[in-house]
Amino acid sequence: MKIETIKTTPIDGQMPGTSGLRKKTRVFMEPRYLENFIQATFDAIGGGTGKTFIVGGDGRFFNKDAIQTIIKMAAGNGAAGVIVSQNGILSTPAASHLIRLNKADGGFILSASHNPGGIDEDFGVKFNAQNGGPAPEGLTAKIFDATTSIEQYKTVDVDDVDLSSIGTTHYGDMQIHVVDAVTDYQALMETLFDFAAIRALFASGFTMRFDAMHAVTGPYATAILEQTLGAAAGTVVNGIPLEDFGKGHPDPNPIWAKDLMDLMMSDASPDIGAASDGDGDRNMIVGHGAYVTPSDSLAILAANAHLAPAYSDGLAGIARSMPTSAASDRVAAKLGIGSYETPTGWKFFGNLLDAGKVTICGEESAGTGSSHVREKDGLWAVLLWLNILAMRKQSVADIVADHWNTFGRDYYSRYDFEAVETEKANKMMQDLRGQFGELVGQSHAGLTVTSADEFSYLDPVDGSISKNQGVRIAFDGGGRAVFRLSGTGTQGATVRLYLEQYSGQGGDIGLDTQTALQNVRDAAFAISAMEATIGRIVPDVIT
Ligand code: G6P
Ligand code: ZN
Repeated sequence: MKIETIKTTPIDGQMPGTSGLRKKTRVFMEPRYLENFIQATFDAIGGGTGKTFIVGGDGRFFNKDAIQTIIKMAAGNGAAGVIVSQNGILSTPAASHLIRLNKADGGFILSASHNPGGIDEDFGVKFNAQNGGPAPEGLTAKIFDATTSIEQYKTVDVDDVDLSSIGTTHYGDMQIHVVDAVTDYQALMETLFDFAAIRALFASGFTMRFDAMHAVTGPYATAILEQTLGAAAGTVVNGIPLEDFGKGHPDPNPIWAKDLMDLMMSDASPDIGAASDGDGDRNMIVGHGAYVTPSDSLAILAANAHLAPAYSDGLAGIARSMPTSAASDRVAAKLGIGSYETPTGWKFFGNLLDAGKVTICGEESAGTGSSHVREKDGLWAVLLWLNILAMRKQSVADIVADHWNTFGRDYYSRYDFEAVETEKANKMMQDLRGQFGELVGQSHAGLTVTSADEFSYLDPVDGSISKNQGVRIAFDGGGRAVFRLSGTGTQGATVRLYLEQYSGQGGDIGLDTQTALQNVRDAAFAISAMEATIGRIVPDVIT
């Protein structure tokens, strides 16, 4: 086997965002585009010699081609081994688990998460480090640096690996193991949850619909929910991963999982509905007539986690991203454990988890997870909910209502304004920053501003500082508006406006969410002058 060194030149714009490098698929398919980024990653981690890597993806268009390229480049870079999932299908949390289980040196996850897939849609590559978590900012900066000075990449000229059959083969000295990633993931779940209790729950007539959205979790959910836990056949829908996700948008929220929402709001509703995204790290939970916001789900899971075997000794602490509601902080306060507020992006939880400061983490963007891996984990959240339901023997709606009665309710909604002109979005953020000095004490839409600043994070573990992580404006009476530009979009800028209003304990917990948030929303519109700056106040998506 001959190693080939191929000349290349830097390609602009290979800067990883919130979650890896994400671009239009056709951009990734351009000559040397993928190769440059992969070589830059090998260079940034000090080369591939003697190392072992996990490779897999969410099954979207170009997944298999990219996997073949990466395996050959791993061989070209002197790797000792590659562990690749059968047919290249590997959920993000399962990838994190495989890295940890095999003590691998890292992993390449091919996914654009919840973004649509296909030749005219999105593709992405993310490198996860030895701890199984997304590369921290220091490493993504090194990777980007390497993309700006790259001169060559290394590969081997060999036939493709047969990804369809489990087994071991090799390119020269490099071993290639094709594995069944579902088995290892399921084994991990069995160590965390009371499978017997969940099995008894299903045996008692409990019903569920899990929408895999034609994405990666189908095989995992079918094996675990239907074949192991005894959920009825047909519980998992859209369970076969498709390269274009059935032309859908594999994002588990009330907009993109509308069929599931409609079912759960109807008389024909099963007891619980759940969905996961393209690469299996996000989740949506909905009871009969009761959508659970991700922020509430994090708080409820944290408050009840002790009902599952893995967490019966209690939690070390809880972390949430800054735009996530304060609901989980209230749980941490009651439990007397630490609560942490990090920037958006799962990578910021890694240090806290590694240092044992937190056990459970979550984000408003439909992600919850724990110390069992270093990614958020859609099916894990679903199984923890099932474990809690099996122990409490109450409905999802009753558990949510009970939580609000105990802690008060944090009304919450996110408005997304997509494909905004980047310049205009930046100007709006700049104008907001310019007002910090004068906002406090001002009154807008009947609310008085109590603080206004931009979130900056000091990592308590490694001391690194991450600035410009979103503008936050707090109002008297427990309201908050946060403005942020998305780091995962592939077209123009996506402005996110996160709205929150605390009802207080003993407050009204039965209001319609948008009604409860009306004043905070109007105040946010007024302060940002959104209509004038970005020309929009009607969001593309409300979650
Ligand atoms: C990905 C990351 C999350 C993040 C989300 C939203 O899913 O893994 O950690 O919360 O993107 O990011 P964005 O920058 O688009 O708001
Ligand atoms: Zn995802």
